[in-house]
Amino acid sequence: MDKFIIAGNGPLNGTVAAAGAKNAALPILCAALLSDEPLTVSNCPRLWDIGTTKKLLAQMGVTVAQAAPHTVVVDAKTITTHIAPYELVRTMRASILVLGPLVAARGEAHVSLPGGCAIGARPVDLHLMGLKAMGAQITLDGGFVHAKCAKLKGARIVFDTVTVTGTENLMMAATLADGETVLENAAREPEVVDLARCLKAMGAKIEGEGTTTIRIQGVTRLHAATHAVLPDRIETGTFLAAAAATRGKVRVTNTDPALLDAVLVKLQQAGAKVSTGTDFIEVDMQGRRPLAVNIHTMPHPGFPTDMQAQFMALNCLAEGVSVIKETIFENRYMHAHELLRLGADIRIDGHTAIVTGKERLTAAPIMATDLRASAALVMAALCADGETVIDRVYHMDRGYEDIEGKFASLGAQIKRVGKQFG
Ligand code: EPZ
Repeated sequence: MDKFIIAGNGPLNGTVAAAGAKNAALPILCAALLSDEPLTVSNCPRLWDIGTTKKLLAQMGVTVAQAAPHTVVVDAKTITTHIAPYELVRTMRASILVLGPLVAARGEAHVSLPGGCAIGARPVDLHLMGLKAMGAQITLDGGFVHAKCAKLKGARIVFDTVTVTGTENLMMAATLADGETVLENAAREPEVVDLARCLKAMGAKIEGEGTTTIRIQGVTRLHAATHAVLPDRIETGTFLAAAAATRGKVRVTNTDPALLDAVLVKLQQAGAKVSTGTDFIEVDMQGRRPLAVNIHTMPHPGFPTDMQAQFMALNCLAEGVSVIKETIFENRYMHAHELLRLGADIRIDGHTAIVTGKERLTAAPIMATDLRASAALVMAALCADGETVIDRVYHMDRGYEDIEGKFASLGAQIKRVGKQFG
């Protein structure tokens, strides 16, 4: 099991480039299933989850080529099966994103139910509700979703809960349906917008992406396209939050300030001097300790749940008391138990966490529990006296490309024990 050894040291300083967004690249790679012509995806991050998606597509007979370090070409002309097996789906819930494209383009799909994960039950009932509304016959058997439909029909689909991959799955399915599909209460995340951009490059007719109502006019076929994945706003926010926690000055390049307004507001409230350009964001704490900030996670454009753990770590070191409310997932405080081992002062009461900041933390052996939480543990370890060992860092490899290399380039004393993914 890979481990990180991190010595608590001074402020992070320097420049780091953001990779392409994992949560845009995943649905975009699956969108290739909608066409028999190649989809070229650039600025595609080199991550465990991307590797899993490539494996999943390849085992379906789809041709997947790594054309350059960050460019993948996917050609579904060679597809041989419509099955997404449990052994791959259980390692990455986002595999459910092959469901909509397979039914729409191939008339059937057999996708293992993803099951829950550390942060919650993660049901897919809304994905299935939407496909049923479009005319698919759905049966659940042996832990698999079996979906069949010769030709999906456009429908009006109302999500009672905002779902990112639910919106993405049904938007993809609707591109080849008969007639118009309207998605109401749709997710507004930038990754949904980026997927729509890619689908339109393939010839899809979509409008309203980025708003709560998305309209899709079905077309008969989609064609080859090239798409550059948008920057990863969560990776960007993670490095900016780490700069704030360590009282440093960090510039993140290859990113877009418009993707994380709510996070930038919170960084300013924490006392950071935030400067931005078209493709960079800089946080400068001017050597000062951060101020505690209250966090209430919401669907985009609200404060992202994927940044909650990082801001809990920031608040553990901030001046004052903060209240964090996690409204998206039912169990997204596992990182709190690990932060408590570093001497943090956190009280959890249901969906609310109350954090009293401390000047410094104290090193201890801890364990990564889920993808974003693990980055929060790195941040806290950088502000803990002594040497912290973080176990199970494979969680980080799922969502951050070369996280230890990027932190080290900013001055962190961090080293990996075990094999590097890459
Ligand atoms: C996406 O997950 C992201 N993953 C998550 O990022 C992110 O935390 C989440 O959106 C929220 O922003 C990808 O994009 C691959 P949801 P998703 O469907 O789509 C409930 C990361 O670290 N729900 O928006 O699975 C669900 O239980 C990951 O990169 C239903 O009830 O999340 C949750 O409470 C972690 N029924 C809420 O909706 C459904 O059919 C939001 O979930 C679907 C969802």
